[in-house]
Amino acid sequence: MKILAIETSCDETAISVMEARGELKKPVFNVLSHVVASQVEFHAKWGGVVPNLAKREHQLNLVPVLKEALERAKMDSREKASPLESKVKKILERETELVAPFLEFIKNSGVPKIDAIAVTRGPGLEPALWVGINFAKALAFAWDKLLIPINHMEGHIYSVLIPPKSHNLRAIPSITFPALALLVSGAHTELVLIRDWLKHKIIGQTLDDAVGEAFDKAARLLDLPYPGGPEISKLAKKCQGDSLTLTLRLPRPMLHSSDFNFSYSGLKTAVLYAVNKLKAANPDGALTNKQKIMIAYEFEQAAVEVLIKKTAKAIAEFKPKTLIVAGGVAANQELGRQASEMIKNDFPEVNLLISARELSTDNAAMIATAAYLHLQTKTRIPKNFKADGNLSLC
Ligand code: KG4
Ligand code: ZN
Repeated sequence: MKILAIETSCDETAISVMEARGELKKPVFNVLSHVVASQVEFHAKWGGVVPNLAKREHQLNLVPVLKEALERAKMDSREKASPLESKVKKILERETELVAPFLEFIKNSGVPKIDAIAVTRGPGLEPALWVGINFAKALAFAWDKLLIPINHMEGHIYSVLIPPKSHNLRAIPSITFPALALLVSGAHTELVLIRDWLKHKIIGQTLDDAVGEAFDKAARLLDLPYPGGPEISKLAKKCQGDSLTLTLRLPRPMLHSSDFNFSYSGLKTAVLYAVNKLKAANPDGALTNKQKIMIAYEFEQAAVEVLIKKTAKAIAEFKPKTLIVAGGVAANQELGRQASEMIKNDFPEVNLLISARELSTDNAAMIATAAYLHLQTKTRIPKNFKADGNLSLC
């Protein structure tokens, strides 16, 4: 079956066409196309995502991204749709920039041979989510397709089922239950216990900032561009092999707490104090490059150590058969390295699945994957639904 998925929960306009087959025992996913129009450079000027500007950018990006996704997946067909214009206009009434390009697109292109449309319903920025949802509703109406709302975090979890580009058939990833997921993104830091397909229970989460947010804020304090995660990581790598002696020790918040929760706002504040102290001691009042490298390295070590130790503690307690690491911060190589080491040394019986680098950050292929699982598990699909910025996994 083929699923077209749409993701607009934050600052990426993403559409994917996914081919999925197989029963729940062994679902197999093949990405036919996966297009992401990033607004990162656009929002970088403001140092972070501005919801109403994101909404406008999604409106402008959706039709071109859809065209590209269909073209790359070679999905065009001759049969044309001729939906009631007034109904389309009603569905898209709040997406003023989208109406004309949408109608023009529908008139000039065929109805692709897809079985369903999936769209992110939440969590995320509501104005941004709404654009994707209304667009998906208009498409589902025009093409007469089933529409499946998806939780963005489920997308991140099951993104690990999508084989990396250079896969061989034997390496098709599969999840054995119970599984544990460490979800790390710009808005979430969660440990999720997964009893079976789509049966989730959050056992720990951040009490304040998410780990990705902490990376972004620490990067800002070091005058690095947004998004800060990859930038901090790049800088931290320069520390290895460098003769730099570490004179800085940052806190590992909640490392020894008895629960599975996290806290990252104190770590960010500790970076702020360290930056101010070092700056004040320098004659020109600015950080040296070496100091920036030292802070980035120590920050990454502190952030990753808490994630790894809490995850190890959860594995020891819940004894999952699979560990999933997913979300934007899963692209962090140091986190991947330490997760692999921890599994190899302490839990060799656990199967570790880390989302492929290009599918760690927001994308629509992961939304299609979750949608296929909903169809296979015969979840009730709601006829009507709204954006939910705070949608939870439970
Ligand atoms: O999952 P995602 O694309 O969006 C959300 O759903 O939030 O995650 C984005 C987050 C950002 O905070 C970004 O700085 C972080 O993921 N990130 C990284 C890396 N790549 C992206 N953090 C650390 N190291 C990376 N290599
Ligand atoms: Zn995300």
